[in-house]
Amino acid sequence: MLKPLRKAVLPVAGLGTRFLPATKQLAKEMLPVVDKPLINYAVEEARAAGIEEFCFVTGRGKTMLVDQFDVAYELERTLEARGKQKELAMLRDQALPPGAIVSTRQQTPLGLGHAIWCARSFIGDEPFAILLPDDLMLCDTSCTAQLAEAYRATGGNVVAIEEVPMERVNRYGVISPGETCGRLVEVKGLVEKPPVEQAPSNLTVIGRYVLMPEVIGHLARFEKGAGGEIQLTDGMARLIGHQPFHGLRYEGRRFDCGDKAGFLEAQIAFALAREDLAPAMREILGRYA
Ligand code: G1P
Repeated sequence: MLKPLRKAVLPVAGLGTRFLPATKQLAKEMLPVVDKPLINYAVEEARAAGIEEFCFVTGRGKTMLVDQFDVAYELERTLEARGKQKELAMLRDQALPPGAIVSTRQQTPLGLGHAIWCARSFIGDEPFAILLPDDLMLCDTSCTAQLAEAYRATGGNVVAIEEVPMERVNRYGVISPGETCGRLVEVKGLVEKPPVEQAPSNLTVIGRYVLMPEVIGHLARFEKGAGGEIQLTDGMARLIGHQPFHGLRYEGRRFDCGDKAGFLEAQIAFALAREDLAPAMREILGRYA
């Protein structure tokens, strides 16, 4: 029997140096797109996939990310007294139930693979999702829910993939594709940030994964990969051939909010996707055409 997917790990220890001075005191995952922080989008997406338990892998100065999902007692009382029911309902909806969130520390930035390894006791022997909050998804069906569905269909590891222009593959994890069945592509190999001329394809991994717990054993070898870091991609590559491993061409769009241009585009796309803001945003864009 396939174990249900209930857990998600969110690596959020990064310093966000690309957004200084905004991120001098503020965690980069608290930067809002329209009116919601990146971290809230990621948690919402995971909950829409049935995720019940969250582990944030944090670093110094990032405890505000866990607080973001706590009950805001004073604020709620004030909103109540002022009859602000809509805002109150929204806040309550965004908070997580008691015991649904834990955090662990990655004291030193040794890589994404190391961050995931830091969540090993939380993961235990269950399948788990990973969401990198810098990758913001605009999808009709939650991207993590699409992966969860693929996990139930294949019974193994699934990563969200998309095609990028060949000259940009060196920024991503890249798959070596096998057979294709609908939106699912068999993964025969994985390589982190390969030089363009050595990339096995232009199908890249984005920051959404459903992995089997066995990946932790491989990450525990602390082998350094691309950029001298312990790479999640290398740990995942070791599962290939032992467990089902697929890429899913997810339906939707991804915005790289770790990058200034991507972050700005996300503001526009998310505003245009909102009924209350789309007319104003179109009018504004018209002025810059
Ligand atoms: C990480 C992963 C990479 C993946 C990317 C998606 O890289 O290591 O495999 O393609 O996220 O955003 P990073 O962007 O942290 O360098």
